[in-house]
Amino acid sequence: MLVASNRGPVSYAVADDGSLRSKRGGGGLVSGLSAIGPESGALWVCSALSDGDREAVRRGVGEDGVRMLDIPADVHADAYNGIANSVLWFVHHMLYQTPLEPAFDAEFRRRWASYETYNRAFAEALAEEAAEGAAVLVQDYHLTLVPGMLRELRPDLRIGHFSHTPWAPPEYFAMLPDDIARQVLRGMLGADRLGFLTRRWADAFTACCERFAGGLGDTRVGVHGLGADADFLRARSHEADVDERMAALKEEIGEGRRTIVRVDRTELSKNIVRGLLAYRQLLDDRPEWRERVVHVAFAYPSRQDLAVYRDYTTEVQRLAEEINEQYGTPGWRPVVLHVKDDFARSLAAYRLADVALVNPIRDGMNLVAKEVPVVSDAGCALVLSREAGAHEELGEDAITVNPYDVVQTAEALHEALSMRPEDRTERSKRLAAAATALPPARWFLDQLEALRG
Ligand code: F6P
Repeated sequence: MLVASNRGPVSYAVADDGSLRSKRGGGGLVSGLSAIGPESGALWVCSALSDGDREAVRRGVGEDGVRMLDIPADVHADAYNGIANSVLWFVHHMLYQTPLEPAFDAEFRRRWASYETYNRAFAEALAEEAAEGAAVLVQDYHLTLVPGMLRELRPDLRIGHFSHTPWAPPEYFAMLPDDIARQVLRGMLGADRLGFLTRRWADAFTACCERFAGGLGDTRVGVHGLGADADFLRARSHEADVDERMAALKEEIGEGRRTIVRVDRTELSKNIVRGLLAYRQLLDDRPEWRERVVHVAFAYPSRQDLAVYRDYTTEVQRLAEEINEQYGTPGWRPVVLHVKDDFARSLAAYRLADVALVNPIRDGMNLVAKEVPVVSDAGCALVLSREAGAHEELGEDAITVNPYDVVQTAEALHEALSMRPEDRTERSKRLAAAATALPPARWFLDQLEALRG
């Protein structure tokens, strides 16, 4: 069995003394696939993403069961930043707006050629590594062309592809140049089976195929709603480093205050700015919460090679500062914002959460919505965007918001903060049960069985 994804389970950095330090990869994809350890016998093919990763490939350093491809840095940058994260991500999350709207010009075509080269490098490595009749599970929008390319090289393989993002409806997908739209769909349709996180994304893909590619052909489509890993989270969130961070966070929050928690990559689709605007609206509309609540917002840097992400990060920081200046008092800092990635601190915040705020514009699933109810010590209320994939499973016990509606989100925060403790505990238990219905190991095995079956 082989797995292929852009980001792998570890990445490396060169330390001052020249040694290589490894770090767990971030994001929902890695969390989901982490269930497959080296003992499964699977090979995970991924891309070198940093200078540290490339150095690790050169030195022959690596984890068992992982093969990192040293794709030339300029080809990777064009494919990852220039196409996957600037174009395909924006299309599937419907993020384009003036003046971000794309012009598919000669520069786009040049980058697209890199995207093809990058996909071909994966297809060739997989073709080389796979045993006769092996199952290959290709992941995400970075690698949409791999199934078709691999099918040509190795017709004997069972090929699956899984999308960790939403899929755009045909009216929006139609924005792509016609030949590129067809190439993406035909690349995906090279797979025997395609997996999506929700029925909604699977249906959107099917509708795109009907409109642009003459239908699905022989390819089957299935839904696998990745859940949170309860055993791992409960154990990890009670380790000593999490306790230490909890103590530090409690200092920052102050005695006896409610906590609204959000944890995201600093990502346009996560809608962090409107979340802060909604919190400010809450403090405006409901002055009784002033000094009694703190918004703990962790916004970890992501895709900082892209100017639009850097600008978004700056805007998040500016707005948090503005709210603190506008409302803060000597003993109360209304927003506690951290931007340095720290998994143990995220778990500490989860444990302290009275309310979790998850308000993406669009999101494939959103695992934070599933993780907080599992980890929070006293049970939490969940304010959840109707546009997150997780809403299909958690909607009944969450407080639902339209992610664009700041006033409604402020009111939802008030409702969440005001919930009777026994109601909150009950709802949180049901949320946790729904959130863990399909743990990562089962999610992965289900896909494998469906592909083989
Ligand atoms: O989970 C969705 C996803 O887009 C993954 O494909 C990706 O690895 C993750 O988010 C984080 O993004 P990135 O790898 O660009 O940091």
